[in-house]
Amino acid sequence: MPTIEIDGRKIEVEDGLTVIRAAERLGIEIPHYCWHPGLSIAGNCRMCLVEIEKLPKLQIACNTRVADGMVVHTTSEKTRTAQRAVLEFLLINHPIDCPVCDQAGECKLQEYYMDYDRQRSRFPLPGKVRKRKAKPIGPLVILDQERCVLCSRCVRFVDEVTHTSELAFYQRGDHVDLDLAPGKVLDNPYSGNVVDICPVGALTSRDFRFRARVWYLERAESVCGACANGCNIEIYHREGTIFRFQPRENDAVNEYWMCDAGRLSYRDLQGEGRLTQPFARSADEFAPVSWESALATVAAHLREGKVGIVVSARASNEEIFLIRRIAETAGARLAGISWSPPGAFHDDFLVKADKNPNTQGLRLQGVALDGAADELLAAARDGSIRTLVLHRADLAAWRDAGSALERVPYLIVIDTDRSETAQYANVVLPVATYAESDGTFANHAGRVQRFRRAVMPPGEAKAGWDALGAVLGALGGGVRFDGPEAVFAALAAECGALNGMSYAALGALGQPVASAR
Ligand code: SF4
Ligand code: SF4
Ligand code: FES
Repeated sequence: MPTIEIDGRKIEVEDGLTVIRAAERLGIEIPHYCWHPGLSIAGNCRMCLVEIEKLPKLQIACNTRVADGMVVHTTSEKTRTAQRAVLEFLLINHPIDCPVCDQAGECKLQEYYMDYDRQRSRFPLPGKVRKRKAKPIGPLVILDQERCVLCSRCVRFVDEVTHTSELAFYQRGDHVDLDLAPGKVLDNPYSGNVVDICPVGALTSRDFRFRARVWYLERAESVCGACANGCNIEIYHREGTIFRFQPRENDAVNEYWMCDAGRLSYRDLQGEGRLTQPFARSADEFAPVSWESALATVAAHLREGKVGIVVSARASNEEIFLIRRIAETAGARLAGISWSPPGAFHDDFLVKADKNPNTQGLRLQGVALDGAADELLAAARDGSIRTLVLHRADLAAWRDAGSALERVPYLIVIDTDRSETAQYANVVLPVATYAESDGTFANHAGRVQRFRRAVMPPGEAKAGWDALGAVLGALGGGVRFDGPEAVFAALAAECGALNGMSYAALGALGQPVASAR
């Protein structure tokens, strides 16, 4: 293994590693535009030039492999001069858009100018080459050609990752344009990723632009709940509102990417129909009640026996665990349901046909799936189940469930939204979405991953683990867990596949269950 020295610090790295990667391991940032770890190396921006002893010219760190004894300088005067020259060159024709550019705050031109350049322009403003501004190039993306630094990341993405080749360069010299290929529109299931990888404000999101300045937003690490892949994401939010999802690197799940449907699924988490307080039906009135009174009513019906519980694959592992405890305490029949629209889009990259985030979680905890929910609903129809609990299971539109929901004497609905199912309910308990609480999902491959609370649940809605813990408490079902981490610890101790896991061990990237290791 070669040993190299970067800025006076030695490191031993594997053969074939590039200098930019080796520097990363030492925590040394080498500025770069065109290089992206998920794409081939283009080596065209020259921003990563570094000085390497014994070599007559500066070399690009993104495409230079380490060699034993190599000595690299990333802050020498020669390197600094090259960095300033590259930035000056890139800025000659760049528009003075920063105050009106939606990339401000996360723009690599702004950042590198402040870190490596800080010189006044020597070029007169009127001489700038003007190009097309604000051109929609697809349902999610808008292009500003003047701002493009011609790094080709977006071109390589559509060539190498989606293999759809909607983007290319045209013309020559300082008139080169990034543009759509003739007859094409940037409309593939992963198009939004080009916005994330564009280092400047040339490609911006039609969904997000001008809605918030990024420096006002906070971030929470989470996983996308829109399908069983469990892509790792960051939730950008401010004052209780979610503004966008962006992918978070996890080589074992989604590398650097996410699909467009998942990216926009944050909207579903903050729709108009959110439940904000418990409701209960008395005589003909369906009215808000306190949690205390709702829980007392729920517990009283669960104690009467003949109880059936349906839990959907939208529930977290912690919620499934508590639901199982509730079922045991009440002597209830329990069934799981994992429903996706027929013909739902899927591919062989990230998107799964299973549009639920935690079908594997139900399996891991041994909750019966497939026909079990049908049997339970049949029992509700024939009167052998008198109290039915639906946890995150909007069944009204599912097969012929409506007739069972109409007939069952007592229906308890625990969910996030005023669904059609909730219209049949005797009691409704409002719970949080996964962006409003902490917990874990197991993805299609059995990888257990944490999601973290970004925003608070609306009104009186409780986190799912908290609501179910309260039901269990009202039922007299043993210990009250003081947080989702404690629930997960109890689950991991009991469930062989999760043995040894904890929130700390899952960390930011999750862990595979025992059978998938
Ligand atoms: S649009 Fe952005 S990602 Fe594409 S080449 Fe230009 S600067 Fe690079
Ligand atoms: S592939 Fe699935 S988990 Fe990943 S972003 Fe899309 S919907 Fe979300
Ligand atoms: S990052 Fe190395 S040449 Fe662009």
